[in-house]
Amino acid sequence: MNLSAIITALGGRHAIQQLLNVGPSAISNYLTRGHLPERAKPIIYAALTKKGYQIRADDLEILACPPATSSQPLHHDTHSGKRILLIVAGGIAAYKALETARQLQQLGAHVTGVMTDGAKQFITPLSLAALTGEKCYDSLFSLTDEAEMGHIRLARSADLVLVVPATANFMARANAGIADDLATTILLATTAKVAMAPAMNPAMWAHAATKHNFATLRQRGVHMIGPVSGDTACGEEGEGRMCEPADIAAAAMQLITPQNMTNAQDITNGRNHNKSPLAGKRIIVTSGPTIEPIDKVRFIANRSSGKQGHAIAATLAKRGADVILISGPVNEPTPDQVTMVQVTTASEMLAACKAALPAEIAICAAAVADWRVQSISDQKLKKPEDPEAGMTLALCQNPDILAHISSASNRPKLVIGFAAETKNLLQNATKKRQRKGCDWIIANQVGGDADPVFGSTLNQAMLISANGVDEWPQMQKADLAERLADHIEAEVTR
Ligand code: PMT
Repeated sequence: MNLSAIITALGGRHAIQQLLNVGPSAISNYLTRGHLPERAKPIIYAALTKKGYQIRADDLEILACPPATSSQPLHHDTHSGKRILLIVAGGIAAYKALETARQLQQLGAHVTGVMTDGAKQFITPLSLAALTGEKCYDSLFSLTDEAEMGHIRLARSADLVLVVPATANFMARANAGIADDLATTILLATTAKVAMAPAMNPAMWAHAATKHNFATLRQRGVHMIGPVSGDTACGEEGEGRMCEPADIAAAAMQLITPQNMTNAQDITNGRNHNKSPLAGKRIIVTSGPTIEPIDKVRFIANRSSGKQGHAIAATLAKRGADVILISGPVNEPTPDQVTMVQVTTASEMLAACKAALPAEIAICAAAVADWRVQSISDQKLKKPEDPEAGMTLALCQNPDILAHISSASNRPKLVIGFAAETKNLLQNATKKRQRKGCDWIIANQVGGDADPVFGSTLNQAMLISANGVDEWPQMQKADLAERLADHIEAEVTR
């Protein structure tokens, strides 16, 4: 073994220190002894092979240098320079992270591994380092790491931070912003895209806490890859199984290929929504309340927060639809990649919807005020002197926007309304669908003490169509939006 030649081939002493996770004195010792410790040999072998050297496996003798034309490392070919920080969390699916690393490299990525303490119960940093040809980082407080790289630099050096597997515990910590190890600290410090491939037992996946963490992370822009349904490691069958490494690698690379750098991406249930049949389709979504003035300072309103309508707009936009979101006043942030039209009254919302037509699909999730004040006072109305005297406001009906869209000459192919009912949900919503002429009604029971739906992050609904009723369990509004989008996709591809 010519250790000096190996050090030169791999970029110098500092590079070898990083690769083997050792300090400068260790390298001096190796040079004095003239050979490497056994544990270092597979790492060095993998790193040299990756650079294109031909090496004799038993004594690491360099037999041939990389071809002159390939001055770049081999893994920089297809997606030149794309760096992925692969965080491995502690779950049984951790072993699949190794295969994911291999697949990413085959797709041309430069992979650096980071492992949590839990992950080390399943695989070793050595195996990940050997596979990637890069040092695997596992400690926030390693003096060597901090001196050489530093967690902030590590977090910033990547084009994508990919978590495989994302366990329930890891997602909970990430959602809470806890930074008690290197992996979670990187998540807070990174400015790169973040993707996670969840993996867990079906019951853990179905738990409201996990659903909440998943939905919140996704709302914050984390790209989710899976999970899918199938056999899980614990022997149970159901949703929670991690996507296959090849699918994770392909989805991850899509996130950092130039044509997708600006598009919001989300891959759920193993599907890439970039290929959604909704891509390019023009969809109108109404959201939030309308506010009807009484006088200069007072108004009639309702408790709609816009959470449901905005979640639908966000989901459809992520699937590539051309979304026009027409909303009354809300505090919700405008979702990425939607055209936002802000209105106040029902009349303004109707005018905005008419202007947005023609469209292929319309979804009316807004809580439009049914009435407005017949004559709006241009002064603040005065309270009568008599403390017993009542006050009567004359109201007139607002236009019905959903009914207008359903009967328009340029009617969208699919018109979807919502029905907010406090009782007799199915009967009232069924009648509403017929009366307003829409294709589907999403009926939700509102005003409950436990969960009012208005303003909540949760919703429970049923989809009523000419074909029957599909009852959905209670879920996050973001998940309801996904489920609705799935149904719409199925409808438009029929
Ligand atoms: O905004 P959130 O806090 O997230 O709450 C979500 C929600 C409860 C507002 C939402 O899920 C919902 O149910 N939206 C419809 C509320 C409503 O006004 O329902 P409705 O039953 O009164 O109206 C039936 C349908 O006709 C709705 O699609 C509504 O947008 C539409 N409508 C109603 C009156 C009107 N003048 N014009 C309309 O277009």
